[in-house]
This record gives sequence, C-alpha cells and structure tokens, in this order.
Amino acid sequence: SSDVKKVTVTGGAGQISYSLLFRIASGAFLGPDQRIKLQILDLPFMQDSLKGVQMELHDCAFPLLDEVVYTDDMSVGFKDTDYAFLVGSKPRGPGMERGDLLKDNGKIFVGVGQAMNDNASRDCKTIVVGNPANTNCLICSHYAPDIDKKNFTAMTRLDHNRALAQIALKTSAKVTDVQKMIVWGNHSPTMFPDIKSTTVDGKVARDLVDRKWEEDTFIPVVQKRGAAIIEARKLSSAASAASAAIDHMRDWAKGTDEWVSMSIPSTGNPYGIEEGLIFSFPCTTSNGEYKIVEGLDISDEFSQKNIKVTTDELVSERNFVEHLLK
Ligand code: NAI
Repeated sequence: SSDVKKVTVTGGAGQISYSLLFRIASGAFLGPDQRIKLQILDLPFMQDSLKGVQMELHDCAFPLLDEVVYTDDMSVGFKDTDYAFLVGSKPRGPGMERGDLLKDNGKIFVGVGQAMNDNASRDCKTIVVGNPANTNCLICSHYAPDIDKKNFTAMTRLDHNRALAQIALKTSAKVTDVQKMIVWGNHSPTMFPDIKSTTVDGKVARDLVDRKWEEDTFIPVVQKRGAAIIEARKLSSAASAASAAIDHMRDWAKGTDEWVSMSIPSTGNPYGIEEGLIFSFPCTTSNGEYKIVEGLDISDEFSQKNIKVTTDELVSERNFVEHLLK
C-alpha cells in the first residue's frame, strides 16, 4: 500500500536498534512498496546519540524512508504508531538477580503500556524484545486495555532461528529445508526447543539426529546461545536479535505458511497451558493475524516435563510482578 506506516522503536540508541532501524528503513520489514516513518525513542540522556542515528539514517538515503523523528517523549514516539518494536530496557547489571531485573524493567513497561494506550493506533502490532521479554509484554498489555491483547507479543524468534540453524548445520541441510520447528515457553534458558515435529527436506528430523545429541547438545546449545555469544564476542547478540525481530514482525504483518515461534497470550490456547501468560507457541500467520498450530501431540513425558519447567518459570515471573498487574 502507498500510505506511510509509522514504526516506533524504543531503546533506539542501543545495540540492537543500531541494526534494526536500518533494516526497517531499507524495506526488510514491510517490503519494497511500503513507505515508512520512523519514530525513535530513548531516554533523555541518549538524545545526542539518537541525533547521530538520525543523521546516519538520512545519510543512507533510503528510498522508502519518509521521515525520522527521535524523542524522549512517549506521546510523540507512540503517536498513531502502526508497529512498535519495544527494545528499550535496562540491561542486567553485575550481581543483579533476575527478580531485580523484573522489577526495574517491569516499571518501564507500565509507562510504555500507558503511553501506547493513549497514543498508538488501535491496530498497532507490538513485539517486546527487551528482557525479560515475555513478562514485560504481559505488563505492557495490561496497561493498554484499549488495545486488543492479541496485538502484544514477545520475541522468541531468535531462539527459533537458532534452533533452525543448529539442525541445518548438524544435517548439512539448508536452513530453508528445516521446517516445523517449535520453541515453547519463555525467552530464557528454560525455553523448550522441540524437534518432535521437525522435518529436514521432508524427512523426520529425529530420524536424522540421535536423541542423545538432541537432549545433551542441541537443546542446551539453543537455550544458552545468548551467553555463548557474549562469551565469544564480549558483546550481546544484537544483529541476530534485530534480524529475528524483523522476521517476527514481517511474518505477522505479511503472512507465512512456515511454522514460526511467537510468544503470544496463552489465554484460550489448545494445549492446556496455563492461561494469562505470554507464552511461545508454534504459529502460522495470514492477513495480519497469527494462529497457533493445533493438533500436536505433546502428551509424552519428555515434552510435558520440558513445557512444565518453562511454564513454571513464567508463572513465577508473573507472581513477582503481581502488584503491577492489579
Ligand atoms: P542496549 O543496552 O545496547 O540498549 C538498550 C537501550 O534502551 C539503551 O539505549 C537505553 O538507553 C534504552 N532504554 C532504557 N530504558 C529505556 C526506556 N524506558 N525507554 C526508552 N529507551 C530505554 O541493549 P541491547 O543490546 O540493544 O538490548 C536491548 C534489550 O533486548 C535487552 O533487554 C536485551 O536483554 C534484550 N534482548 C532480547 C532478546 C530476545 O530474544 N528477546 C535477544 C537479545 C537481547
């Protein structure tokens, strides 16, 4: 379509955004026919840095980029926005417990939810990237009661893509040959990368890789990939996170027949998973809507055990921020 879509990115001066903004502006998100206005948010003391980002976006002379606004004012940053990439959050500092992170970032997402409720398009599609992404998303959605809960999602696509890559490498296949991958649960080391349904070039993945490799190597490698990147690069996985955020939002906006893992509201899910969480499910997408893949058999002990661990963690995170969800 020819009208301009407004795309908001928070944490715009951070590492992930330094990849993300340029890919959005280049057309990697909404395609070569969609003009874009970027609305970039970061904290007051990051505004100089955002000015530099705006200068570079101008200097790319992206044909699709109509306008770049940067601000620390959420009523400007979320004004009429059609798509929101919520990347901005506080990183975990030394000695900080996950609980402290939940509390600090939880507060950020109260304000973001309220600002979205007051300013964003009622159809705005949102991805939360900032950690702890699933629970931040739950809080954000709670504070935006006038926007449909289904429009608030969190990112487990990076975990999904990591799982695709590991299977492709192991079986010497192309990544596009690997299908029906699933990541269940939380974006955290408890996530459950599940290859029970996965096929590689039409063949059953579990016939190509042995169970020992799956359980002792594949699953922990995917679960701990973030830490391994930090160890190797001394910086977090920013470019691949940005790429996954584009994949998630593009597939949601434009549709895909592939199974993709999206953290979405669990209420009404067909698998009996605790309601009222933001939980990663296998989804397909069309016409701007996602739909959980139904009819999978997850009754075996291995699946049940792994799904329980990650569900329990999400329930405990929700309990931790209960005071924010009243
Ligand atoms: P970064 O620290 O480089 O950038 C974060 C930016 O957010 C900073 O510029 C900061 O000023 C800004 N910020 C903080 N509070 C804000 C607020 N209230 N409003 C607007 N901006 C705010 O971090 P990086 O590497 O870009 O990562 C961002 C987040 O993404 C982190 O929480 C990280 O853990 C998470 N992440 C999530 C992944 C996922 O798969 N869901 C994968 C990788 C990272």
